[in-house]
Amino acid sequence: MDSETRIVLIGPPGAGKGTQAKKLGDYYSVPHLSAGELLRSEVENETEAGKRAKPYLDQGQLVPVEIVVDIMVKNMFERSEHNGFVVDGFPRNPEQYERLTDYMEENNLSLDCAVDLVIPEEMVYRRLTGRRVCRECGANFHLEFRPPEQEGQCDDCGGELKQRDDDTRETIQERLEVFQNESKPVARKFERDGILAKVDATGDIDEVFEKITTTLEERLA
Ligand code: AP5
Repeated sequence: MDSETRIVLIGPPGAGKGTQAKKLGDYYSVPHLSAGELLRSEVENETEAGKRAKPYLDQGQLVPVEIVVDIMVKNMFERSEHNGFVVDGFPRNPEQYERLTDYMEENNLSLDCAVDLVIPEEMVYRRLTGRRVCRECGANFHLEFRPPEQEGQCDDCGGELKQRDDDTRETIQERLEVFQNESKPVARKFERDGILAKVDATGDIDEVFEKITTTLEERLA
C-alpha cells in the first residue's frame, strides 16, 4: 500500500480507534494522528489552545470546532512529509465534517475511507475503565485485555502507567451521550459520500485489525 492512503476512524469511545489506528499507520506506512492525543498534548504543554480545550476534555464534551479543526488540518495536510494518514477521532460532529470537506475540496484532496468501529455500550465501560496509558510515550494497555508485562510499567519505554482522567464512569457516560447526539450523524454523511465502512469491533485486537484490513483491501483495490 502506498503512503497516500487517507483513512479516518470513527466510532464511540473505547471502540478501539486509537489501538487500531496505530496498527494501521504502521501497516500502511503513514502517520497515525489522534485528535484526542493532539489535544491532550496541547493541554500538557499549556498552549493557548490547550488552556481553552482543558475544561471540555475534563467534562467529556467536544472541544470547540475552531480549536480542533485548526490543529487537525495542520497535522493532516500541512505538517506531514507523507501525503497519507490514519486519523482517529476526527471529524466528530457535522460542523467539523463540513469544515474538513470544504478544506479538502479547496485543495483538491479526498479521503479513501471512513472506518466506523461498532461496539455495544456495555463493552465501552469494560474497555475504558481497564485502560492504562503510559505517562511517557502514550502507549495503550488494558488490565484485562492487554496487560503490561510488569504491573504499572510500560512495555515499550518502562514509563509509569496511569488511568486517563476522563475514564471515570461518570465522564464515560457523558462521552457516550456526546457520541450519540453529535458524532453519529457524521457516519451518515460519510455513507452518503460512499466512503463509509462499518466494521464490527468486538473480538480481540488482532481479530478486529484483520476485519478492518480485509474491508480496506476490498475498498481500496
Ligand atoms: P479521545 O482521546 O479521542 O477519546 P474517545 O473518542 O472517547 O476514544 P478513546 O480514546 O477513549 O477510545 P478509543 O476508541 O481510541 O479506544 P482505545 O483504542 O484507546 O478524545 C478524548 C476527548 O478529547 C473527547 O472527549 C473530547 O473532549 C476531545 N476531542 C477529541 N477529538 C475531538 C474532536 N474531533 N472534536 C472535539 N473534541 C475532541 O481502546 C480502549 C481500551 O480498550 C484500551 O485499553 C485498549 O487496550 C482496549 N482495547 C482496544 N481494542 C480492544 C479489543 N479489540 N479487545 C479488547 N480490548 C481492546
